[in-house]
Amino acid sequence: MKYLIFTLTFLFILKDSYAADKLYLPYIINYSNYTAVKPLNIQSGDISKGKKIFKSRKTNCLSCHEAPMLEEKFQGNFGPSLSGVGSKYSKEGIRIRLINAKIINPDTIMPSYFKVIDYPRTKKKYLGKTILEVEEVEHLVEYLYSLK
Ligand code: HEC
Repeated sequence: MKYLIFTLTFLFILKDSYAADKLYLPYIINYSNYTAVKPLNIQSGDISKGKKIFKSRKTNCLSCHEAPMLEEKFQGNFGPSLSGVGSKYSKEGIRIRLINAKIINPDTIMPSYFKVIDYPRTKKKYLGKTILEVEEVEHLVEYLYSLK
């Protein structure tokens, strides 16, 4: 009986960590050092495309963050300035913060840009999707990493 309970507990924990990992596929999340690794078959992004996405209304990054772009007059300060963020984190460290910043701080107001939307009141056309596509995440990673 003891062994049965042990095995079941083990399987339960295994199932849970497997489910958690599947949540952010194709990315591999490391929960101990807060990084997200991209598999080799995913292309690296492009800095100028990332800058465009950053400024877009789709992501609204500028509503919360400042970044070194003088042409943009309205920049927010709910979040930290992203000037120099490329010297603060590795690409993997930046990526996990875009995928789901709540992994690091469950109370953050920053949206989870690569977490499947499953809130019950979400419009049908957004349910089961992520805000950003993998390619868009990668463009943003390259742009932010270039801010030294
Ligand atoms: C609703 C406000 C909000 C929006 C929109 C938002 N963020 Fe954030 N972001 C934050 C806050 C607040 C933090 C600070 C981390 C925390 O709360 O734990 C943060 C942290 C970050 C960090 C880590 C900075 C550091 O120095 O640790 C990065 C990188 C980042 N955001 C990038 C982005 C990008 C790129 C976008 C758009 C795709 C974006 N954020 C959109 C609020 C926001």
